[in-house]
Amino acid sequence: MDRDVEIRKNRGATNPQRFDTIVREVFAPIYPVISQQIIAKTGVRSGKCLDVGCGTGALGRSIAKHSDLHVTYFDQSVEMMQLAMDYAKEENLIRRSDFLVGDIHDLKLQDNSIDLVISRGSSPFWVDWSRAYSEILRVLKIGGKAYIGGGFGTAQLRDEIVATMHARNPEWRKSFQEKLKPEREALPSIMQRLNPSAFEIIDDDSGFWIHIIK
Ligand SMILES: C[S@@+](CC[C@H](N)C(=O)[O-])C[C@H]1O[C@@H](n2cnc3c(N)ncnc32)[C@H](O)[C@@H]1O
Repeated sequence: MDRDVEIRKNRGATNPQRFDTIVREVFAPIYPVISQQIIAKTGVRSGKCLDVGCGTGALGRSIAKHSDLHVTYFDQSVEMMQLAMDYAKEENLIRRSDFLVGDIHDLKLQDNSIDLVISRGSSPFWVDWSRAYSEILRVLKIGGKAYIGGGFGTAQLRDEIVATMHARNPEWRKSFQEKLKPEREALPSIMQRLNPSAFEIIDDDSGFWIHIIK
């Protein structure tokens, strides 16, 4: 395994309790903004949604609240999945929820079965983007959409969160910015090879995202 892959693998082990606290205390306002951006951009409001690297499930729950989508929460961490399940119960979303622990590089879902794949803040941890994006395209229905990337929704939310996180840990922004670069560089050639019907890279105040249509 090369050094970059080793580093990404280790960084994938986000501490669930610490991450849950940050989501509740700092990130919470971004999810309604991002989920509405996703729905507006993709136009997908019903059917099946897969939230890859869902963590505690905040984005998937917000998507569920703003649409009729049934959400499968998917993460490699059993502890994150337990938190995602607890919050879905608490917020009365359990009847439109499924929970699956696994690795994006080997998605145990059927071909052509998902209408919308979403993922925020997880892809920098994936060790093989080519394989991960190929799995995402495999499970999407023809014409299905994916919206994958990272960000804070708006410039104002980003700036507020960066300031709060910087006060907690001055290295925070630098460490996550370094995680983003290799995937950004690899994505255009991966998309050229996987050849979806269309894709668009969004790099603006909402964050860095790729919108893919199968
Ligand atoms: C920074 S958290 C983001 C959580 C959530 N999407 C959010 O925005 O609140 C990244 C998540 O990706 C998950 N993850 C990392 N690599 C993964 C992989 N190969 N397969 C599935 N999940 C993965 C981690 O366990 C972690 O929960």
